[in-house]
Amino acid sequence: MSNWLTDGIEAAVNKVDAQASRGGDFPHITQDGKWCTTPDGVWTGGFWAGLLWLGYEAQKSRALLTAATSLTDRLLPRAADAVNHDLGFMFYPSAIKGWRITGDERYFNAALSAANSLATQFNPQGGFIPGWGFFGGEDWSGSVLIDTLMNLPLLVWAVNHGADERLLDVVHRHAKTALANHQRVDGSVFHVYKFDPADGTPIAGDTYQGLDASSAWSRGQGWALGGFAMLADMTGSQEYLAAAQRVASYVEKRLPEDFIPPWDYSAGASAVKDSSAGAITAYGLIRLWDLTSDARHLDLAETMLKALCSHCLIRDERAPILAHATADLPHGLGIDESTIYGDYYFLKSLLALRDIKDQHEQRENGAHGSLVQTLAG
Ligand code: GLY
Repeated sequence: MSNWLTDGIEAAVNKVDAQASRGGDFPHITQDGKWCTTPDGVWTGGFWAGLLWLGYEAQKSRALLTAATSLTDRLLPRAADAVNHDLGFMFYPSAIKGWRITGDERYFNAALSAANSLATQFNPQGGFIPGWGFFGGEDWSGSVLIDTLMNLPLLVWAVNHGADERLLDVVHRHAKTALANHQRVDGSVFHVYKFDPADGTPIAGDTYQGLDASSAWSRGQGWALGGFAMLADMTGSQEYLAAAQRVASYVEKRLPEDFIPPWDYSAGASAVKDSSAGAITAYGLIRLWDLTSDARHLDLAETMLKALCSHCLIRDERAPILAHATADLPHGLGIDESTIYGDYYFLKSLLALRDIKDQHEQRENGAHGSLVQTLAG
């Protein structure tokens, strides 16, 4: 096993362990290198609970189990959120993962309930879930974020576990809306697409966190790649697979020489970085490799993760795992800082890559295994 990989996993898990021992609320993004925390987990609480579960799986310590349980428990009331397109982010890495590990039925029921809350937000005229919840005071009822794609696996999981089949219609209608409107001919995606919320008429592409409407906000490309790849895996859709492949080829062409995305691919290679976009993109590439067996995707994911380990992994006493993430440059939030979602997808991707390498070795020795649990979420 590569040293950089085992070393990166160990460093990341130690950070999770140290942060867990400090206790407290949900880390969100940093300011001046220090976590800003939230009591209810805003839209990111699932990533911190998810990191605790990943840390627990790696270390099997009682302290991490206690922390993972406690933080997941605190998220459960959020399953009833009525205006929150991020319920997949909040419940897949936390409650579903916790249910798989512990069998706790409260987690299973909360994830099903969160899926129903998410589906209830669907606008049938437009064929989309609005990107509402946490951004500013403007009306988001006709604005659809590319990020929402990553939340739809919660609905597929729910249908596979007894929820109403109509949740799957929501998945396909929302994903088809994104295919028809968000994805451009060069494979990149708009961050936002605006619709008339009353009759669903498409209006125009736009952005909220990117450089401008026509730019390619890096994290958005990662959300699209990961979202389409996961949905392709979970539903068998060749259309979603092709969409993920188009985003992947776009990113491959636009990555700078150091393989760490600038905050927006249209901002140029010397612009401030977004390591979280790198981690999310690497995860999407791993999911795409798992679907296609195309070694190019896995090689690129490995190169990106190695670059993050070399240039962004924080090795000193500071709490977060990855430096050089940019949360929201246009609104002056978390520029060249850390994010809990970057940290989560970084560790998740490193663990997936480790398991892939382990299985490769086992196969060479005649054994067979499955990546289903490592990749899920
Ligand atoms: N989903 C919001 C973000 O990526 O900042």
